[in-house]
Amino acid sequence: MSRRILVTSALPYANGPIHIGHLVEYIQTDIWVRFQKLRGHHVVYFCADDTHGTAIMIRAREEGRSEEELIAQMSQAHQRDFAGFSIGFTHYGSTHSEENRELCAEIWGALRAADMVVERDVTQLYDPQAGTFLADRFVKGTCPVCRAPDQYGDNCEKCNATYSPVDLIDPVSTLSGATPEPRTARHLFVQLEKMHEFLNEWTQQGDHLQPEIANYLQGHFLREPLRDWDVSRPAPYFGFEIPDSPGNYWYVWFDAPIGYIASTQAWCKKAGEDFSRYWRDEQTEIHHFIGKDITYFHTLFWPAMLKVARFNLPRKVHVHGFLTVGGEKMSKRKGTYITAETYLQHLDPSYLRYYYASKLGPRLDDLDLNLEEFAAKIDADLVGKVVNLASRSAKFASKTGLADAYPEDGGLFARAVEAGEQIAEAYENCDFNRAMRLIMELADAANRYIENAAPWKLAKQPDSQESLQQVCTVALNLFRQIAIYLSPVLPKLAEQTERLLGTPIRQWSDAGQPLLGSAVAPFERMLSRVDRKEIEKMIDASREEEADRGTQTFEDSDQPLKDEPLAAEITIDDFVKVDLRVARVVAAEDVAEARKLLKITLSLGGDERRTVFAGIKQAYRPEDLIGRLVILCANLAPRKMRFGVSEGMILASGSGGKEVFLLCPDEGAQPGQRVH
Ligand code: MSP
Ligand code: ZN
Repeated sequence: MSRRILVTSALPYANGPIHIGHLVEYIQTDIWVRFQKLRGHHVVYFCADDTHGTAIMIRAREEGRSEEELIAQMSQAHQRDFAGFSIGFTHYGSTHSEENRELCAEIWGALRAADMVVERDVTQLYDPQAGTFLADRFVKGTCPVCRAPDQYGDNCEKCNATYSPVDLIDPVSTLSGATPEPRTARHLFVQLEKMHEFLNEWTQQGDHLQPEIANYLQGHFLREPLRDWDVSRPAPYFGFEIPDSPGNYWYVWFDAPIGYIASTQAWCKKAGEDFSRYWRDEQTEIHHFIGKDITYFHTLFWPAMLKVARFNLPRKVHVHGFLTVGGEKMSKRKGTYITAETYLQHLDPSYLRYYYASKLGPRLDDLDLNLEEFAAKIDADLVGKVVNLASRSAKFASKTGLADAYPEDGGLFARAVEAGEQIAEAYENCDFNRAMRLIMELADAANRYIENAAPWKLAKQPDSQESLQQVCTVALNLFRQIAIYLSPVLPKLAEQTERLLGTPIRQWSDAGQPLLGSAVAPFERMLSRVDRKEIEKMIDASREEEADRGTQTFEDSDQPLKDEPLAAEITIDDFVKVDLRVARVVAAEDVAEARKLLKITLSLGGDERRTVFAGIKQAYRPEDLIGRLVILCANLAPRKMRFGVSEGMILASGSGGKEVFLLCPDEGAQPGQRVH
């Protein structure tokens, strides 16, 4: 039975380029969509740019242009990148659209009618000259703890104290230079708790979520009353003004998911489709694909909003893990923060589509892009096993065409037809890794056949022309089956196969019937081996780009969470096992042979001493540390390192290298005192 399926990927922020981390998601979704279409289902796939918020507003101001201009340009760049990777959206919209504004108002009205909106005061620093509330990083001033001048609104780089911007001495707005003042504004909150029972049921039953996600929600949120959600921001804010609360705007995360519906609606208008069939008809299955960092928004707020406003609920929210490169998070310094644009200048997009497919399973484990493995896998699988089948037989067959009857092949074709169902099941369950393994097994078998039949030898024997045609007929039909099974991942290869064999690939079941008696076109090169030099160039180019850009433009303040998502839950019992103590640095010296290490001696009061090797050389000079208070994890098992034994760890935050900030206790703290 044919299903009607509506699929979405998360809406990328309009304030940055698409990078290879994002592509995990868009490639995963696109593969699933192409698979469902191939199975004969009616599938639509929507996405849009996520355009609202402070970051965009400030960036537009800095660049001296309107937000509309900025987001229009970003949208173009995003769509160009997606097209480069053959991501086939049905429609790509924008959250800054009339459809979205109207849908927001509709859903808002439903929340009001359900009596779920309340108002409360929130105090923030306000810049009277720029006329805007200031996020922490737009305020500087003198540190209230150590009096160091020119410190950011939330923490001091000199003494590492953290504080609220309201406590800064002589605060200055970095936007205008004006003195900001604390101001209180009314915010609007949605009382999610009113949907608690519904969310309990929806998240825990009906297979809407992967089991890990259902458990996570149960353990983190659903055990307690759900907190009210602050969904408004006072003007000025780049977004939609709340119709019944002039001067207030919907927070970007309120209108962003509604963008899924808005994108659908924009398409319906354009294509003359009936909107109600998609979001107001239970026959339509809605599938969201997202990364694990945005689980909370999609599995609590979003279903609650949909429920209240009587839209279809998602059939499933598919959550994937995060990309690392070479085992580490993407890094601009290392050149592994690779944008889609840079990738496309150096490598074939099919490589990445196949590599990600081979790595993606139904769970939310992170996946690693290991560039050596990447190159080896593409060469071995795609070039060595798949394309090779065609290249070794097509040139002979283009002279004779395919045989009229399917020759004896030892059951290979039939076996691949049978395997088709298992492969389809793996695709359906987003177990692409398994699908790729099953397909490669078929390719192995087909290669053994060609190896034995050796068409290149038959070609040299004038009396073997008939067997040559038969062997090539088998080889090309086995190749075509594989190309069909791979077509959700490698649509370009499928197109090349269509041209080679002069027959379109329309559906999955095309793999069930051999092609016979038809012509074979001259062989065109399908995929080349990975050029290792291009990988290096791509990494170099990614490094340079950072230099060009200087410091990165403003990113949303939740960026650290994206780069390093939260670790698995621990209990309070686990937590109290970590014994954190105030300690004073009594000696500090450089470890000359080590690039990063300082050797630090700490006093815990009395004559309790600890020696610790800390990777902070690039950030601190030893002489500046002596006498300072730090926080020490004091009960860590001693660890033997190359330069001695390290007896604990000093707490610091930051991204590494020069960006390391020791956490420091209050001035009055005593060495040995426990930190909670
Ligand atoms: N704008 C929000 C989504 C709103 S959806 C109503 C957002 N945008 S994003 O640009 O930061 O991310 C878009 C998608 O890409 C998210 O699903 C996110 O999880 C995913 N990824 C971003 N970086 C990623 C990796 N490094 N690895 C895998 N996926 C990543 O979040
Ligand atoms: Zn300070």
